[in-house]
Amino acid sequence: MKLIFATNNIHKVGEIRNALNNEFEIVSLKEAGINRDIPEPHDTLEANATKKSMTIYHLTRQNCFSEDTGLEVDALNGLPGVISARYAGENVSFTQNVEKLLAEMQGKQDRKARFRTVISLIINGEETTFEGICEGTITNQPQGNNGFGYDPVFTPVGEVRTFGQMSMEEKQKYSHRKKAVDQLIQFLKEAKS
Ligand code: IMP
Repeated sequence: MKLIFATNNIHKVGEIRNALNNEFEIVSLKEAGINRDIPEPHDTLEANATKKSMTIYHLTRQNCFSEDTGLEVDALNGLPGVISARYAGENVSFTQNVEKLLAEMQGKQDRKARFRTVISLIINGEETTFEGICEGTITNQPQGNNGFGYDPVFTPVGEVRTFGQMSMEEKQKYSHRKKAVDQLIQFLKEAKS
């Protein structure tokens, strides 16, 4: 089965292709010839994921999915959450967002946080959603250069290293995105049988 993945984030495409293990064909927006950024205007991951997948479905009438991910930090009342991509402002770098997060977390004892991914899948015009959560803590300093976004400052429960210090395969053992994708795979397999 071929699915359009409604994203322009090459890191996400890489992780999801790796998680899908070639069982389904993933076509990025660029590969589908769609040159546009889809806005994320809503205040929940769920609503933004639906907006992205429905936008692409209405444009192409093809099976597709989107995902929206946020880093929810307890000591910051769930921020950056749905605004994770633009925490330090519009069009900022991953480094600027990480710097803002560490500044806001300075002196905070409670370092608990989680990545939460919501996937919205559209098959024949019908939506199904999946959620994946990875619990962990925020470090005091960035560690490692692997991955993307907040990976260098997030240590998953059960590890001493950050995602930034792990290979993609190692991150997949804990990853919020992988957990959501595994449910999507299960759903598609059951739908086929
Ligand atoms: P969005 O789902 O494209 O809105 O992503 C929000 C932001 O969360 C991204 O720009 C990244 O900074 C961050 N993010 C999403 N997924 C991950 C991840 O797996 N690791 C680290 N940061 C992530």
